Amino acid sequence: MNLTSKLPNTGTTIFTTMARMARECEALNLSQGVPDFDPPAALVRAVQASFAGAANQYAPMPGAQPLLEAVADNLHRRFALRLDPQEEITVTPGATEALFCAINALVGRDDEVIVFDPAYDCYEPAVTLAGGVVRHVPLAAPEFAVDWDHVRATINARTRMIIINSPHNPTGTVLAQDDLNQLAELTRDSRILVLSDEVYEYMVYDGRSHLSLLSHPELRERGLAVSSFGKTLHATGWKVGYLVAPPALTAEFRKVHQFCQFSVINPVQLGLAQFLRDHPEHLTELPAFFQARRDRLAELLGDGPLRLIPSSGTYFQMVDYRHLSGVSDVELAEHLTRAAGVATIPISVFYAPEARQHGLRLCFAKDDATLIEAAQRLNRIEQYLPDAA
Ligand SMILES: Cc1ncc(COP(=O)(O)O)c(C=O)c1O
Repeated sequence: MNLTSKLPNTGTTIFTTMARMARECEALNLSQGVPDFDPPAALVRAVQASFAGAANQYAPMPGAQPLLEAVADNLHRRFALRLDPQEEITVTPGATEALFCAINALVGRDDEVIVFDPAYDCYEPAVTLAGGVVRHVPLAAPEFAVDWDHVRATINARTRMIIINSPHNPTGTVLAQDDLNQLAELTRDSRILVLSDEVYEYMVYDGRSHLSLLSHPELRERGLAVSSFGKTLHATGWKVGYLVAPPALTAEFRKVHQFCQFSVINPVQLGLAQFLRDHPEHLTELPAFFQARRDRLAELLGDGPLRLIPSSGTYFQMVDYRHLSGVSDVELAEHLTRAAGVATIPISVFYAPEARQHGLRLCFAKDDATLIEAAQRLNRIEQYLPDAA
């Protein structure tokens, strides 16, 4: 068959590959961003009750009304925003679909989209399928801050979208108020939209707060913010998230979403709505919950040979090993999974084209026993290092 791939450079994602390797090698899995913890018991009960009730047919396309309202109330509490749930919030099957549909609804042929490297892997394929072109702007180690002058130099008449991700996967950096102000200034009076991937919004540490796109009055007008219940409720397998955008952008977004997914699993939406209404404390307790794990992993790795890149958000810790070996991180990650029984994610897969890097991403959303054992093995990394190719 003469098959021309629309995504010739896209293979199976590293997350799938490393998760499979971890299973096959029975390794401790610090690779995929999957928590070890169960969703809150009250949430599971609320979802179970919805399954047993009369909620098993299609939900409305934008989302089940109680969930749209619960999200709107939460945004009001956090950002003093009064949004119209029917016009400005859409429930989606995870953040991934929201990002895909937003890009495909709003990016046209030859439009340029700026992404910051290292970048989460689902942005570029969506841009390519939309006919757009990705422009990569690097975040420079060790701070991984945005170089706004570089962004300014990259913007041109074809720039249609800038994708931001804060807290940032994989580096753990978070954007500051000055970053949002610079972004607002650069996009003012332009045709540029801002797509903000905020799936780790409740994982911000050391007393800092999450600066959502929605907290910035000017950016909010030209922006779409994406959230994930999977991340915030320890339920990644449910794949439920939502997108918030002004009515005109929401209308365009829904034109794609309705033919991609149409609507999201109804009993889960209703259970989520009840849980969010009854247990607002779950969200406010999340930063402390995850910060304790970040600190625990840092303490366990503290005297070891790996260099830790400070993590201010997400549930990831990046480590650098270039002072130990010149071996590529893809090779090292695979080797560590087999030889040391610890699966991690190599940083280079967040770069395009895959550049040789010397960093690993560790997920610390894990129970204490896993963190202790994984850290002990990683602290012995020198005995597992393969020869550099
Ligand atoms: C930065 C980022 N965006 C989006 C997603 C996808 O979220 P979801 O599972 O809700 O589709 C992830 C998942 O790991 C992520 O790390």
